[in-house]
This record gives sequence, structure tokens and C-alpha cells, in this order.
Amino acid sequence: MTAENETPIAEPAIEPNQHGGAAHPSDARPSEAQPSAATIAPIEAISDASSAETRKAEPSVPEIPKTNIATYAIGEGPAVLAESVVVAAEVVPTPVVTPTAVKPERKNLAEVIVVTSGKGGVGKTTTSASLACGLARQGKKVAVIDFDVGLRNLDLIMGCERRVVYDFVNVIHGECSLRQALIKDKRFDNLFVLAASQTRDKDALTKEGVEKVLTDLGDDGFDFIVCDSPAGIEKGAFLAMYFADRAVVVVNPEVSSVRDSDRILGLLSSKTRRAEKGERVKEHLLLTRYSPIRVEKGDMLSIKDVQEILGLDVVGVIPEAPEVLQSSNSGEPVILDMNSQAGQAYDDAVARLLGEKRPLRFTTVEKKGFFTKLFGG
Ligand SMILES: Nc1ncnc2c1ncn2[C@@H]1O[C@H](COP(=O)(O)OP(=O)(O)O)[C@@H](O)[C@H]1O
Ligand SMILES: [Mg+2]
Repeated sequence: MTAENETPIAEPAIEPNQHGGAAHPSDARPSEAQPSAATIAPIEAISDASSAETRKAEPSVPEIPKTNIATYAIGEGPAVLAESVVVAAEVVPTPVVTPTAVKPERKNLAEVIVVTSGKGGVGKTTTSASLACGLARQGKKVAVIDFDVGLRNLDLIMGCERRVVYDFVNVIHGECSLRQALIKDKRFDNLFVLAASQTRDKDALTKEGVEKVLTDLGDDGFDFIVCDSPAGIEKGAFLAMYFADRAVVVVNPEVSSVRDSDRILGLLSSKTRRAEKGERVKEHLLLTRYSPIRVEKGDMLSIKDVQEILGLDVVGVIPEAPEVLQSSNSGEPVILDMNSQAGQAYDDAVARLLGEKRPLRFTTVEKKGFFTKLFGG
């Protein structure tokens, strides 16, 4: 695979995060088991990662003319088949394909989704974790990256904080390879987390460094890269959105959150690579912590209000739900709790991101029936 040989994540490397490997000195946690050399093993995850796309580009066995293949009986094993192919090839010579003849163009096919908002504490990390899990559950190969240098929350919500050895900043500074820093999710083989650094200054991320990480992930067959943005409009937030193809703008149904998101929309249409090329970042509105009762009472903005102010398509409305905090505390993103309304609403949002049409749920006050009113419930 020509492309892989040129990327750092394709080199044979150790896998400390999946086997409790050598910790970065600044991140060492005394309570955690430190690795021995014997625990260091090659990453099967990333080598598995050569996607259908990359595999497609590999030099393939010359195609055998159909007339020859037709002679094989059903049930013949691969060895028999291989032998027969040789015989067939002798009869009708097939063109020799050399590796140089099929050298592929390196293509970054990963779709970069930034989860952003103007204000902090609105539910970006909760959303990033659930979207990433949901996309992985749909069979997509997903990396979710924490851009919140200094805070590092995503790994907690994803439930992999004890396995963070290297982080995003280490990768960018060349202190480890990307594959060493990627933490493979325990629930989905096709989901990886790249944690933020707790120790570095906010300027530790560079545009070139971020671009290289995103490109390498794309070359390695990732379908989606979810970028969990920090709040505000500082460098981290700017870098999280700069390379985005799509943006999920997380908003709470209150005026200050909507107003701050409006500023983010301005940045998405001017300060991103797509904007610089005269293209658009596809924007989606995700309304969260939505409480139909409070909307009915007039304490909260309605979906329609927010939609009208921001002028965006709604990709999801997540109800205010106590399960969200419980899920975060146990490191199980709420989308995995399909008994909860929030989990189901996130599942709908993922389906919509993938192009499915689903009606909104949990957005109106459930009217209690006569018997419920009478007997409680
Ligand atoms: N739908 C929801 N229902 C209830 N609490 C929520 C919901 N979404 C997020 N939260 C809570 O809001 C707080 C902030 O969420 P977080 O995802 O960390 O926001 P951000 O990343 O934007 O700072 C957390 O305590 C989280 O549990
Ligand atoms: Mg956050």
C-alpha cells in the first residue's frame, strides 16, 4: 500500500494505550499500572484500518477472463481456485499489472464534523461523544478528538480516561505517533478517541499539526472525524472548526446561547478552509437540554424560535434528561442508553446526519390521559 508507507500512523508502532503502555511523563498517573516492554504489541486496529478505499487502490491480482472462471465448481477451496487460475492464465495471458501502474492518489475521504457553540457548558462534549458512538454503531470508522486543551473532558465521557497515555498535543509535537495516541474504544472496534492535553498551554495546537492529524486519519480509512470544540472563539475553537466539512452547532433554548451561536455561524462562513475556498461548511443545529414543559410555560425558546433566529436545519432536539449526567459519570455516552429519551434523540440525530429522514420526538408535552390524572403516574 503505497500511501500507508508514507504516513506515520502506518509504520509499525507500539500500542501503549490499548495495553497500558509507557506514559508520557507529564501525564503519568501513579495509580495506573505501568507497562512492561512485554505488553507492547503491534496495533492491529490501525492496520485493520486500511479501509475499503485504501484497499481498493492496492495492486490487485490481474482479472481473469470470465470464460476461464466459469469452469470452477462450487465448493472448490481457494487453493484449488488459485491453481486453476494459474492454469487459466497460461491459456489466455492476462496483462501484468505493476505496482507503479496503479499508484493511487492519496485522498482524504474522512468527513470532518466540528461540534461547536459559542457558549461553554451547553452540551458539546456530551454531543461529540454520542455522535461518535452513534456513527460507529452504524458501522462507520470514527475518530473523536478533544480540542479542549487544558480541560480534557471527552475521555471521561467516553470512559477511557484511565487509558490516556499520549494526547493530541504529544502527536502534534512529534512526541509519539498518531497510532500511539489513538485510544481504541472498548465497545466499538471502529471507534477511536484522541484525548486533549491537560498540561499544555492553549497555543500548543498548530494549524499544520491539526491538518496533518486529520489528513493521516483520512488516509488511514476513517469515515468521520468528530472534533469536540472548546467554548468561545479562541485558538482551540478556531482550529476545531477550520478544517470542518460540517458543523453541528449545539444550542440550548435560551437567548444567550442562541446569540453566541450566531457569532460562531459567522466564523464558520468566514474563518474556515472551506470559506477561504469559497465553499460552505454544512451547518446543522442541535438543540439540547430542551424541556417542552418549560417551553410551554414560556421560560424557554421553542424549536421554531431558535430555528428562525439562526436559520439552520435541525439535526436533533435532545431533551433535558437526568440520564445524561449519569451516563457521563459512568463513561457510557447517553446514546448507548436506548431506554432514555436523550439516547433515542441522539440516535435520531446520527441517522439524520447520515441522510435519513426521521421525525422529531420528545418535543411536546405529553398530555396525561384521564386515568393517569386520576391515579397519578
Ligand atoms: N440533554 C441534557 N440533559 C441534561 N443535562 C445535560 C444534557 N446535555 C448536557 N448536559 C449537562 O450539561 C453539562 C455540560 O455538558 P458538556 O457536554 O460538558 O458541555 P460543553 O462541552 O459544551 O462544555 C454537563 O453536566 C452535562 O451532563
Ligand atoms: Mg466540552
